[in-house]
Amino acid sequence: MHHFEYRDGVLHAEDIPLDHLAGEVGTPFYCYSAATLRRHYSVFADAFNSQDTLVAFSVKSLSNIAVLSLLARQGAGADVVSGGELFRALKAGIPGEKIVFSGVGKTRAEMADALKAGICQFNVESEAELIALDEVARSMNVKAPIALRVNPDVAAGTHDKISTGRKTDKFGISWSIAADVYARAAKMDGIDVSGVDVHIGSQITDLAPFGAAFSKVAALVSTLRDQGHDIRRLDLGGGLGVPYHHQDGTPAPPHPLDYAKVIQETASHLDVQLIFEPGRMIAGNAGIMVARVTYLKENEGRHFAILDCGMNDLIRPALYDAWHDIIPITEPAEGAGTKLIDIVGPVCESTDRFARNREMPPLKPGDLVAFLTAGAYGAVQGNEYNTRPLVPEILVDGGKHAVIRRRPTYDEMIARETVPDWV
Ligand code: LLP
Repeated sequence: MHHFEYRDGVLHAEDIPLDHLAGEVGTPFYCYSAATLRRHYSVFADAFNSQDTLVAFSVKSLSNIAVLSLLARQGAGADVVSGGELFRALKAGIPGEKIVFSGVGKTRAEMADALKAGICQFNVESEAELIALDEVARSMNVKAPIALRVNPDVAAGTHDKISTGRKTDKFGISWSIAADVYARAAKMDGIDVSGVDVHIGSQITDLAPFGAAFSKVAALVSTLRDQGHDIRRLDLGGGLGVPYHHQDGTPAPPHPLDYAKVIQETASHLDVQLIFEPGRMIAGNAGIMVARVTYLKENEGRHFAILDCGMNDLIRPALYDAWHDIIPITEPAEGAGTKLIDIVGPVCESTDRFARNREMPPLKPGDLVAFLTAGAYGAVQGNEYNTRPLVPEILVDGGKHAVIRRRPTYDEMIARETVPDWV
């Protein structure tokens, strides 16, 4: 469910026609729907409202501070993976006690910042990290609340590059040594053992891997309690998939209520605070990217539409062969027909291709198109390759809109570079 629909033949973001926004800010740009963000957050949070739950939005999926502020107002916490994300979450008004810190490579400086902020929990991914955190916390005369992120050795059935819970992945602490590491953690003066954490991957569209992983960690919680640990929190990570195909009848991924049922069946007996780290489920279909056709060309019978956005602006197709629906901003006339074309960007790389042999209504230079389901892992994975400015982000709320990140100028893009006088 999202709020990008044709009205009077023009694609709108809530009440705003996207051709108007394109005229105002230029293309390409990202556009987010506040109503969709709020709705997705509440659908997810409401699925667990009978239990003590913290929904910690995964900041890496969409980290604009306006979006974080909007979700903070809804009651969201934050799952952060760097000092920079922690800084954003705090700036957005998310209180420290609603922040969890994930990631395999937290530095001591990042740990100290998070301890100062009084975060809810560090999700620790190795014994080496645990030792470092203990030292940092003791040097500050505090105790760091921790969960160990355990690796349950479950295949999530998603794209290889976004699977994280198999024993050969870099994530988490091996299942076979988890109880030993908990025992060592309990002896550290700077560590407060308070939870268990698991995250098996992203864009998961089958509930079975969740069920398998959650049953394993629920059993671990009981074992750890028997061994004397005071486990108060169970962080089940993120990963619930979203629909990327809106037109071809591909079955939709599970609804949050069905996901909640899996948790009800596997973990509801534990009397713990449940923590979730959803990113894509909240942000994915709340955002689109709008671009303009620069040229059409034909090479040896192959047809190309060259857009003014590139793989640097939306890298998911190049990186994971990801599918995004691409639709014209002006609704195609009935009977306009379709044509198979490749949709590509201007970046000097063959992998700068968004779609191959895609069936599209007729396009001509100057036409606007929208990439759907681009809210999560879209703008955040953008970069300035080919010295292309980062794409602006716009937030729409009903009939209101605001530029929540503007396009940098070329001067701004090179402002942090210096030329030493010896070159
Ligand atoms: N928690 C942890 C520890 C994570 O690593 C992630 C995502 C999440 C939560 C949020 O997962 P979600 O609910 O969004 O599935 N760039 C890739 C996705 C990478 C996901 C990384 N971790 C993409 O564009 O598909």
